[in-house]
Amino acid sequence: MLNYRNNRLFVEGVPVSRLGKRFGTPLFIYSKKRIEDNYNAYRNAFSSVKNLICFANKSNSNRALLKILKNLGSGVDITSGGELYRALDAGFNPKKIVYAGIGKTEAEIIYALKSDILMFNVESIEELELLNRAAGRLKKKALIAFRINPNVDPHTHHYITTGKSGSKFGIPYEQAVAFYCYATTLENIEPAGIHCHIGSQITEVKPFLLAAKRVKKIIDELSLCGIRIRYADLGGGLGIRYRNENAPTPKGLARALSGVLKGFRGTIILEPGRSIVGDTCVLLSQVTYRKRVADKNYLIVDAGMNDLIRPTLYEAYHDIVPAERPARAKVRLDVVGPICETGDFIGKDRMLPWLGQGEFLAAKCAGAYGFSMSSQYNSRTRAAEVLVDGSKAVLIRKRETYADLVSKERR
Ligand code: LLP
Repeated sequence: MLNYRNNRLFVEGVPVSRLGKRFGTPLFIYSKKRIEDNYNAYRNAFSSVKNLICFANKSNSNRALLKILKNLGSGVDITSGGELYRALDAGFNPKKIVYAGIGKTEAEIIYALKSDILMFNVESIEELELLNRAAGRLKKKALIAFRINPNVDPHTHHYITTGKSGSKFGIPYEQAVAFYCYATTLENIEPAGIHCHIGSQITEVKPFLLAAKRVKKIIDELSLCGIRIRYADLGGGLGIRYRNENAPTPKGLARALSGVLKGFRGTIILEPGRSIVGDTCVLLSQVTYRKRVADKNYLIVDAGMNDLIRPTLYEAYHDIVPAERPARAKVRLDVVGPICETGDFIGKDRMLPWLGQGEFLAAKCAGAYGFSMSSQYNSRTRAAEVLVDGSKAVLIRKRETYADLVSKERR
């Protein structure tokens, strides 16, 4: 989706510098084709089993992107009432929505029950009991999966490690059968699935395998107690290549899981976010100034940590490339934003041409947890988003205005 032609960077058939001039910067630019290809890679990889791919909407919840996925048949993984609203607004079939999260409020639970979603991924007894009461009042039966914590190390950043003991998520796998037995005693609950999600940006297959083995063992134990699990939801987490990682493909994951889950006749649910949208987007910015301080070179650009917080929050690496390759030598430099914090950088110690004012730079792999984690910090308006389809580009979210910054505040 991203390539240079005559030293100009293109997303599909459109040079990104043209989009920068037309829509301004900072600008998130997405490739429709790449989103479709990434989704289809999952569908094809798991085609020999019953499957439901539920896109993790927290990674990117732009309506236009959700609609692309909905039209391909995707479901959604949600974590809040707001994400449920977005999913329904984009036209998803509620029976393809699964709801995770350790802190679902009563209002959110009622909203999801009234919306007739497929399944609640439950993480505590108190949540289960509240769900049972709410479902009773609405005369509904809630399908649930317990989110189990399989105590597996996914070898990723500790902030996005979720399936190791000591984390706040799920219930210990050793106690799962007891939790299910209790759930069967509740009138308005139907235990129909099992869920786990062990972390994000996972670049090996092994942690997924270990988690799946634990899940399968519980499924087998439950079947001995007469509890039939119809949905095995293995979460998301597949990594992408930001730098030189060799993350497994959906096909590699499917191949590895097929042995472990042999004999399971239900539906396999997956909740990928990053691996669907991560590499489909660049964040385009423009050089505002350049300067040298204490032997260090800085390119000061108009995108900051409010637009892309991953570098400073997770020490994440996003490759940065010029939108037009100039015939200039490269120098070692930091690409920093305009925000009043030393943690405001997009990339450090990069070899890049010493670009001048107004020249464009693209940070790659900005599609997942880019816009969705952006903020108005320093009263900066949130960036615009553009979707490229072949040689066409459409604005899918307007740049916020200064008036937007104060619109919810008391006059
Ligand atoms: N399912 C559940 C229950 C999750 O909590 C998550 C992500 C996913 C699916 C999707 O995981 P993915 O396929 O995108 O790895 N902000 C961090 C990532 C946080 C992930 C949170 N949960 C980042 O920018 O790296």
